[in-house]
Amino acid sequence: MRILVCGGAGYIGSHACVTLCSRGHHVVIADSGVNSSPRVLQRLQRLVGAPVSLHRVDIRDRRAMAALFATYHFDAVLHFAALKAVGESCRKPLDYFDNNIGGTIALLQSMQEAGVRRLVFSSSATVYGDPSQVPVREDAGLQALNPYGRTKLVAEQLIEDLCRADDRFRAANLRYFNPVGAHPSGLIGEDPCGEPNNLMPYICQVAVGQRDHLRVFGGDYPTVDGTGVRDYIHVVDLAQAHADALEYMVSADRGFTVNLGTGRGISVLELVHAFERASGQRIPYEIVERRPGDSAEVFADPALAQQLLGWRAQYDVDAMCRDAWHWQAMNPQGYRSPLRRAAAPRVERPRRAVARLAGA
Ligand code: NAD
Ligand code: UFG
Repeated sequence: MRILVCGGAGYIGSHACVTLCSRGHHVVIADSGVNSSPRVLQRLQRLVGAPVSLHRVDIRDRRAMAALFATYHFDAVLHFAALKAVGESCRKPLDYFDNNIGGTIALLQSMQEAGVRRLVFSSSATVYGDPSQVPVREDAGLQALNPYGRTKLVAEQLIEDLCRADDRFRAANLRYFNPVGAHPSGLIGEDPCGEPNNLMPYICQVAVGQRDHLRVFGGDYPTVDGTGVRDYIHVVDLAQAHADALEYMVSADRGFTVNLGTGRGISVLELVHAFERASGQRIPYEIVERRPGDSAEVFADPALAQQLLGWRAQYDVDAMCRDAWHWQAMNPQGYRSPLRRAAAPRVERPRRAVARLAGA
């Protein structure tokens, strides 16, 4: 298939591009550059062994998007393009509504105009708010706790309404839990601007000496060790799930909503210790006040993704930490770090992932 990947220069989108190419699909990236580096392109091309088209286009720019659709005749769209920082969304809600909701509406209009009716949407576990029960199933109650979460919830609803109005439109809503790690080659990974909001990139920056210690938000939750529990998922597993979801949507000719997580909760301190083992670096930390709005424990019930897509996460927390560290150590300044010549994968990978990434 020829696939438009909106936001494909970002963290998760770039990994999805590698997987899609390794399965023989053709990708074209549209990315505004609001949270990505153009340098990802050279690295992506090295990984997929072929040219990749990256267009600096904002999905809200209907004219530029119409030109892209007219040039390429896409079979499907993967929609990663969004702003994603929860704290920033509370300070600048209108920017988030405009970019994430306005962007989704404009993209759906462009797709409709071009007659493209297959969409894979990057949703989030944030749509469950503070879930009353774990593991969280897809039929749990939905709730927005902040403007970012509201944009994901509204976007899911807009897409659902469009599917109701046009019975030829198919959409897969993928609710990610906590994506971490990097491609085992160390060529692509997460490159946050400024101070990281999320745990794993913060740990990585402490490990390379860019920050002196981690602040653990809360040590008195009713969890295994008092720290917050989340469902961390390797970004390569997530990338595989996108290709599986798209291929299932086409073959079964139906839309669906699934959780993408491992089904296993890991506490902040468990992740810190796993990272220390994987990297050989000490991660100094102090336990501070809880972060407002945080839940004690959130992890997925991933059974539906397995049932529908045959997808199950393959990588464990040690592999997540190992690959996150490999990326960070090779690229202490993210994509501003010089591209090294030898970047061969140096890790054993689960059989399924090896087979699927073999083309990369
Ligand atoms: P990212 O910021 O690395 O990638 C998003 C990409 O979209 C960036 O390259 C950015 O430049 C681009 N973009 C943003 N707005 C755009 C616009 N209007 N037009 C074109 N390009 C635009 O983020 P990510 O971590 O790769 O997340 C990808 C998607 O997954 C996002 O929709 C995010 O909300 C969702 N998600 C992420 C997480 C996470 O923890 N990383 C968890 C759940 C859901
Ligand atoms: N944490 C710390 N110190 C830090 C950062 C985080 O202790 O410096 C803790 C948090 O309190 C939480 C855990 O680490 O217990 C994970 O926090 P993250 O910020 O990495 O992830 P969240 O689960 O809070 O949220 C992330 C995204 C949301 C998304 C959600 C589910 O930021 O946008 O995952 O996908 F909705």
